[in-house]
Amino acid sequence: MATFDIRTFGCQMNVHDSERLEEVLRRAGHARVEAGEPDVVLLNTCSIREKAEQKLRSEVGKLAVRKRERPDMLIVVAGCLAQQEGEKLMKRLPAIDLMIGPDNIPELPDLLADALLGGPPAVRTIFDVDAPRFLTAPHAVAGQPTAYVTTMKGCNERCTYCIVPYTRGPERYRDSQAIVDEIRVLVETGVREVTLLGQTVNSYQDPADRLVLAPEADPEDPDESAFAALVREILTAVPDLWRLRYTSPHPRHLTPSLIAAHRDLAPRLVQHIHLPVQSGSDRMLKRMLRRYRRAEYVDRLAKLREAVPGITVSTDIIVGFSGETDEDFEATLSLVEEVGHTGVFGFKYSPRPFTPALKMGDDVPEEVKSERLSRLFALSERLIGEHLKALVGTRQQVLVEGPSKARPENMSGRSARNEIVHIPDASDLALSHRMVEVEIVEAYKHSLLGRLTEASRNEAESAAPAVQPGKRRLNVVAS
Ligand code: SAH
Ligand code: SF4
Ligand code: F3S
Repeated sequence: MATFDIRTFGCQMNVHDSERLEEVLRRAGHARVEAGEPDVVLLNTCSIREKAEQKLRSEVGKLAVRKRERPDMLIVVAGCLAQQEGEKLMKRLPAIDLMIGPDNIPELPDLLADALLGGPPAVRTIFDVDAPRFLTAPHAVAGQPTAYVTTMKGCNERCTYCIVPYTRGPERYRDSQAIVDEIRVLVETGVREVTLLGQTVNSYQDPADRLVLAPEADPEDPDESAFAALVREILTAVPDLWRLRYTSPHPRHLTPSLIAAHRDLAPRLVQHIHLPVQSGSDRMLKRMLRRYRRAEYVDRLAKLREAVPGITVSTDIIVGFSGETDEDFEATLSLVEEVGHTGVFGFKYSPRPFTPALKMGDDVPEEVKSERLSRLFALSERLIGEHLKALVGTRQQVLVEGPSKARPENMSGRSARNEIVHIPDASDLALSHRMVEVEIVEAYKHSLLGRLTEASRNEAESAAPAVQPGKRRLNVVAS
């Protein structure tokens, strides 16, 4: 048995993969390190931008120094950079003992067993295209009210700047019954909110073709997919699932059938969508090969808002992509303003190996990228601020996730629109994992302060186990 630690560098998929790495290691008899230095350090990497790659190099550098004192310590590099670089990276960073790609997690225990016995360095980065495997990680969500569930892996888009199709391979879809079954089991163990995961989650196809497409679905529409049917199936088959989210949808698959599903299934299908747009300029969208125009993005969102009034929209934006002029960037700002995004993840364009955009050049100077990014953030801060302020005085349903990190006497959770809500002086109530109603009393910079409504407080007080405050006192005595 070895002790291990996992450090995660990437997106939600990467986080979910870390949960699965932990699961296969636990099943093989290893344990997450509780204190001291682990025998095995796993770095679950990302390669979406160059910075992510630099972070990995510096992390391996630091570990290599430790390894000189403790030669039996093993360094495992997993994730997208492992997939992208394979042996090349191992040659450059010889402190690495093992490298595994995102599709090779099941093979990790065997590879690790060899390495622990002093076997030679090994690299395993093979896509499971013919027989895709979808692992689950029940251990990771035990006692949590929220969980990720994978619906598909890989990406068939070819956005010219993006390395993901290269690091995650072609799209492979999980059986719809297996998805529903996993969610059912999660809900039985106490999970209340599930986020469906996929690189373009709404291009989902049902491999067994079991799902019946909604009447709104146009079978001739090349952008139509079985995703709306999957969402309907999940919410029908698992009535005790309170909330369903998904990330990240591609705008071209935000079809009438998915909009109809939002209309029919809100608020269990939450009133929030993260819909990456990347740019507000049609010229840029074309160079990025995003396969939609600005007007289409705006139009589809308008229809979604008509179907689900008040739905919030967040997005991803790349600034300083090849050839981006001031005018193109102004178009991005005007789009964000027009849509009123209430969450903007902005990134400076970072050229990636193997991507088509490499040939287009990286011609926007670094200081221009920085300036554009700060202007984008200033706008997004204003929009978030206005949005949060407008919620003061309203009532919101909050799924309480647990104590706030900064102030554990407060509890915190999310509204159906994805705002973070803190609930003060609630640590003596058994609120965790419950849906409560709060009145919003204050807007912070990126979150809200809400007080329990009287009905919610009464309900919580009658449900709160009497032992809890006592247990706290006991802890104080003990310390
Ligand atoms: N599959 C998701 C996004 C995956 S990557 C989607 O298509 O929506 C997350 C975000 O990273 C992207 O939305 C994009 O904004 C950003 N990104 C991807 N490649 C990048 C690059 N080369 N430089 C800068 N940002 C990039
Ligand atoms: Fe990358 Fe585009 Fe695929 Fe998203 S849709 S993962 S940005 S290629
Ligand atoms: Fe995610 Fe980074 Fe890979 S964003 S898919 S971990 S390149």
